[in-house]
Amino acid sequence: MEMREQWRSRWGFVLAAAGSAVGLGNLWGFAYRASEGGGAAFLLLYILIVLVVCLPVLVSEMVLGRGTSSSALVAPVKAAGSKWSWMGWLFVIAPLGIGSYYAVLMGWTLDTFLHSLFFALPANTAEAETFFGSISTGSSVLLGQLISLLLTASVVSAGVRGGIERMSKWGVPILFTLLIVLALWAATLTGTWEGYRTFLFKIDISEFFNPSTIRNAFTQAFFSLSLGIGIMIAYSSYLDRKKQLPKEALAVASIDTAVGLLAGMITFPIVMSFGLKEVITGSTVGTLFISLPTGLGTLGLTGRIVAVLFFALAYIAAITSSISLLEVPVSSLMDKFAWSRSKAVFVSTSLLFILGIPSALSLDFLGKVDSIFGGVLLIFGGFMLAIFLGWVVPRKFDEDLASSNSNLSVRRYLKFMLRWVSPPVIAFGLIVSVIDLFQSWSS
Ligand code: PFF
Repeated sequence: MEMREQWRSRWGFVLAAAGSAVGLGNLWGFAYRASEGGGAAFLLLYILIVLVVCLPVLVSEMVLGRGTSSSALVAPVKAAGSKWSWMGWLFVIAPLGIGSYYAVLMGWTLDTFLHSLFFALPANTAEAETFFGSISTGSSVLLGQLISLLLTASVVSAGVRGGIERMSKWGVPILFTLLIVLALWAATLTGTWEGYRTFLFKIDISEFFNPSTIRNAFTQAFFSLSLGIGIMIAYSSYLDRKKQLPKEALAVASIDTAVGLLAGMITFPIVMSFGLKEVITGSTVGTLFISLPTGLGTLGLTGRIVAVLFFALAYIAAITSSISLLEVPVSSLMDKFAWSRSKAVFVSTSLLFILGIPSALSLDFLGKVDSIFGGVLLIFGGFMLAIFLGWVVPRKFDEDLASSNSNLSVRRYLKFMLRWVSPPVIAFGLIVSVIDLFQSWSS
């Protein structure tokens, strides 16, 4: 068997992991979840969950990958024996589920980008809805999905260093720069403060107890960090022993949260300035693709330039995430069956395309798959990781962090959180989310 690849540099890993984290979840998911009415309560819960609950789980997912030098499918078995093989399968099925509809969202993004670049922006909401209807149905959506998968596959088949690391190293900095430029531009709009206030700062205490806000905050935290489904296991399996994982985890979480907030500072002023609150509170998964082009459409050339930049940025963000979703099944097939990278890429990409067809053809189906795979399953994966490293193989956690010289008090803090805080809090989030999900389906 070939030697396992390794990242070229520390930043290569951090940027690849941050590239996975930063994606449509930050740009599209954050906008539509924050707009569902939680306001500042949603934002605070989301940040609190990231800092208190997700960080220790992120470190533990990294420990599992590095400690076993194995893909997500194999790592739990290597760490604790064959009775944990189901957890490995969970970590392969979940990214396949997410990857299937993620490519559909990427297709919409690509279409909107191309349309903004070559044609015109919609003149009003009705036109935007018609446009969204045309890109989210029929053969054009399948084409967008296919192109996005092929692009993703081409990066992943070039390998860890030559593909994933290289793509992330230029993609993430470009993305950050574009975001800052656009956020500065959005700060000059007339509805800016109203936008920040309505969606990000307005605090309504009762929202802290609203099950939908709680579900949204948990989902956003796990989805946005790409946490709980084996991605960080796969990426960390290419790490050497020297890196201090708590530091890397903090860097990834900080970049991801900053991007989420920056994205909100772009989308919400636009929504407010152009009186699109009704469109966005209609909150479907298509929100961003309708409200943003409509708002920008009223600004003439400037609006068009902003739209082109925004959707280009969203597409770059999406690719650095979709490569991580594909890398999980690819590395698992390579590990388990000793397949070549190209064979594993071919099989996994074909599977993703087929699994994504129902989501491509039905918005309703896409929404459901998103709430199961991109929601409760992810939270469940996070819960299992906390139990696994906190209780089943706690020595692995200790030894790994000690061997890379992580600070003792940081280690103690993380271990305590992983054992005593993350499991009950995530269990609570999971139960609330499942109940809320069923209620939303039955209403
Ligand atoms: N974190 C990425 C985003 O926010 O768009 C996408 C993603 C990748 C979500 C992997 C979930 C996941 F497991």
